Amino acid sequence: MKLLIDDARLDEIKKIYEFFPVSGVTTNPTILSKVGGNPFDTLKKIRGFIGEEADLHVQAVNRRAEKIVDEAKHIVEVLGANTYVKIPAVPEGFKAMKILVETSEILITATAIYTPMQAFIAGQCGASYAAPYVNRIDNMGFNGLTVAKEIQQIFSSNRMETEVIAASFKNSQQVLELCKCGISAATIAPEIFFALIKNSAINDAVENFIADFESFAGKDKSMLDFK
Ligand code: G3P
Repeated sequence: MKLLIDDARLDEIKKIYEFFPVSGVTTNPTILSKVGGNPFDTLKKIRGFIGEEADLHVQAVNRRAEKIVDEAKHIVEVLGANTYVKIPAVPEGFKAMKILVETSEILITATAIYTPMQAFIAGQCGASYAAPYVNRIDNMGFNGLTVAKEIQQIFSSNRMETEVIAASFKNSQQVLELCKCGISAATIAPEIFFALIKNSAINDAVENFIADFESFAGKDKSMLDFK
């Protein structure tokens, strides 16, 4: 399962990149609104930091298919290869996906997915990824993890190449559950990244090892001090 950062704040992105294995960054209009200003200034800085090989997902915001197509081309023109254009999985979005797949090489992430059938249709339209919103589905009284797993099953049963990029997580357990069943990718907010491995028993174990070493080797000593 690939891990991506669901954020546009460069300092937060840098912090996660420093400590975790990350394949890229996903954004949406709400995420961009938290930074403000010219969205391409933000996105170019992110692209500059993560490099041209990393995945960058950027959402189109027009409502009509033809405009979404123009917007998708513009986004990729500015941000380069390995930029996935997020297009909502609604009828105008499906139309835009079909046009883009027929007329360009643009990579598409179908977004705002709350139901398995949205993902299936998006996959049939040629989307590379489908992004179910796990936590938002939970908040509607359904089971977001089940929906994400069903989508994965639908792609596999129908021999489709579309992959799941699960989004909208509230906690690390949701991420773990999808990791266990081999979901292709998960995009996670920075605070959830740290929660993935947050456990006081782990820190205690590490601190105890260091204390035991120092008990015979001396304070602040490590293997570097011996030959
Ligand atoms: O980017 C889409 C998705 O990650 C939204 O997450 O936390 O706003 O439900 P959230």
